[in-house]
Amino acid sequence: MRIPLNRSAQEPIYLQIRDRIKHLITSGSLQAGEQLPSIRALAESVQVNKLTVIEAYSVLEADGLVEAKQGAGYFVTNFVTDNVNFSERSSTLEPAQEVVIPSKWGESFIDQYMSSIQAQLDPDVIDFTSGFPRPSGLEDLARISRRAMTQVADVLFSYDAPQGQFTLRKQLAQMLAWKLGLEVSADNLIITNGSKQALSLAFQYYLQAGDWAIVESPTYHGAIAILEKMGIKVIGIPMQKDGMNLELLHQYLRSHQPKLIYTVSTLHNPTGITTSQAHRRELISLAEKYNCPILEDNAYEGLNFQPAPPPLKVLDSSDLVTYIGTFSKTLMPGLRVGYMVSSGKHYQSLVEIKLLHDLHVSTVTQAIASEYIASGHYRRHLNHLRSINHQRHDLMLQSMEQYFPSTVRWTVPNGGLFIWVQLPNSTPLQLVSQQAATQKVLIGSGKVFFPDGQGYPALRLNFSQSLENIERGICLLGDILKQNI
Ligand SMILES: Cc1ncc(COP(=O)(O)O)c(C=O)c1O
Repeated sequence: MRIPLNRSAQEPIYLQIRDRIKHLITSGSLQAGEQLPSIRALAESVQVNKLTVIEAYSVLEADGLVEAKQGAGYFVTNFVTDNVNFSERSSTLEPAQEVVIPSKWGESFIDQYMSSIQAQLDPDVIDFTSGFPRPSGLEDLARISRRAMTQVADVLFSYDAPQGQFTLRKQLAQMLAWKLGLEVSADNLIITNGSKQALSLAFQYYLQAGDWAIVESPTYHGAIAILEKMGIKVIGIPMQKDGMNLELLHQYLRSHQPKLIYTVSTLHNPTGITTSQAHRRELISLAEKYNCPILEDNAYEGLNFQPAPPPLKVLDSSDLVTYIGTFSKTLMPGLRVGYMVSSGKHYQSLVEIKLLHDLHVSTVTQAIASEYIASGHYRRHLNHLRSINHQRHDLMLQSMEQYFPSTVRWTVPNGGLFIWVQLPNSTPLQLVSQQAATQKVLIGSGKVFFPDGQGYPALRLNFSQSLENIERGICLLGDILKQNI
């Protein structure tokens, strides 16, 4: 392989190697499945250190262009080919919905969360209801955690700053800029106990009991539950195939002067929908017109199979958007490390609320996340996760096509963890759910995601299961649906 290098150029050598190999792959000179030269061979032929080649291969791996096979070396991936299969399917979702202003609240997020925690204890249960990712890369995590813990004696022992450790905030700022085009600095970041805490803090900052707030309908039930407890009056704007209905949003911004719009713009929970750049632009311009802050929850950041449009925060020139992310879905939910990005006058107020709440996130868990990023494992791990999730996502869709009645509709998300299934209106969902539970398949009910617990009959199916469980569970569920629809 010929890799011309310009040793006096500003661009680091490993990136020059990456660019050349990327060019060979995208131009078709290197084909899917073809093996790259070994690290040693390439280092000798281009006369660089082996570490430089490792770094170049790691970046290619993180970009999804090559994959490492244990003991065999690096190979060009089938990633591009996989995406072609993926994009052939498209969402069939077609709900007829109206705006929801709940007078009573829906089923409890707390009950559903507790039953998913319980379900984890029984290895025979297939739990399609939870939002939990499947464990992966645990050996690396254990090793990296031990390394991070060695700092306890010096830097990690003491109380720390409420906004979180500078190193982690700086790494996050770099990652957000590099991956999402979100140009922020460490001084815009606050590390939180998961993104759930970031949600609570932002809701507390922007809202008071009796205020109106806009949410998508359906939306993340954990957010609905906090708003309910705070005594917030919620307006649920219907989610269509391409995101929240902006005409209705406009109408309610005008009529109710809400104090906040809560949105999951990428890999929405529960529908998996990612809004387009045009939708994002329009949403921002409406928010600006009515001076209404936006809370952008990007909990599934990094789990998209194909690039998503830049977050709303990138389009924000008036400090209206607070952005939220987390390591829960990509690295480890038990770590409880999330973050928020805020700008302008809001930042310091949010830091103070965080301080009053619990001082700061554990220094140890922050150090683990930081070490994970610094070691280069995070990029590789994300890539691996995307590839196994993609396989599971495709299998779930294939199995649904094969086993579900033809009247059932669903979304085809570009990543994340969920497929949202719309059932015919006559479906006796409670009965279906009970029958599935007797066979150890948990499906719950999509009602929890609607602000008033009503909505249309639907299911949120989590595809982060083993391939075997996906096929078996969907086949079983298909039989039950056919008996009841
Ligand atoms: C949309 C959304 N936001 C926030 C969270 C909270 O996640 P964590 O607190 O683990 O970061 C979740 C978890 O399922 C979620 O789906």
